[in-house]
Amino acid sequence: MKKQFLALIVALLPCMAMAAAPTVALDEANIDLRDKAALQDGARTFANYCMGCHSAQYQRYERVATDLGIPEELMMENLVFTEGANFGDHMRIGMRQEDSKVWFGAAPPDLTNVARVRGPDWLYTYMRTFYEDPSRPYGVNNKVFANVGMPNVLMDLQGRQVVGCKAMPVVENGSVQRDPLSGETIKAERCDVLTVVPGTGSQTEEEFDTTVRNLVTFLAYSADPIKLERHRIGTYVLLYLAFLFVFAYLLKREYWKDVH
Ligand code: HEC
Repeated sequence: MKKQFLALIVALLPCMAMAAAPTVALDEANIDLRDKAALQDGARTFANYCMGCHSAQYQRYERVATDLGIPEELMMENLVFTEGANFGDHMRIGMRQEDSKVWFGAAPPDLTNVARVRGPDWLYTYMRTFYEDPSRPYGVNNKVFANVGMPNVLMDLQGRQVVGCKAMPVVENGSVQRDPLSGETIKAERCDVLTVVPGTGSQTEEEFDTTVRNLVTFLAYSADPIKLERHRIGTYVLLYLAFLFVFAYLLKREYWKDVH
């Protein structure tokens, strides 16, 4: 009986993991880790907008500069703001966890590996779905991280985002509906969606999406800096094995030639 009970729990484990997944549909980040310009832009956004509160302490400035092709001087001038930090240092910050816990209700976690934990799509959606909510201490809430302690730090760029009315594509049975004659998507006004108050941000919606995509690209790189290198080496390993196979096969034929 006990064994069956255990087996049941093990069988149900995947369901529990699913239950923990966010209820909001995530937008696809579509990042490209080979895009150096995107990575550099993401690193700049990270240093300017995130490192006030978040560290990336398992990563070094020097390593980032080398991997992303940023000269040391430019790196030190534009991306290193922590007082007394050297080129070879880990990307730590001055804010103390004890203080930030009091200020925000939760300490800002280190972000070196956050892309592994949350995934790029989650991060991409998270950074774009802060909205005004007067019931929260900093006046903002978030669609994928309900009652988050983090303020909306990219508001200057995105503008003030509120829950309001907006013409949205009509989706039926999972597919976007199109007008049969013109082929254009059919839109209908919905009043429970996020919209940006026009003229409140310095970037357009597309520009802001790109800024966030680049930022997420940088975070994904940071969580797995060796990924591209691994794929490159992997290709050579497979080629080598394919090459070796030919000789192994010839050798096998030679050995078995007289056995029959
Ligand atoms: C003013 C301080 C502050 C700044 C600046 C800031 N954050 Fe945060 N962030 C927080 C706090 C506090 C939390 C913890 C929220 C909670 O647990 O409720 C957090 C949480 C997060 C999380 C969720 C981590 C997790 O897995 O739980 C992510 C991702 C994140 N921040 C990304 C960023 C990025 C990217 C930037 C820069 C664009 C940034 N933050 C800038 C304070 C900040």
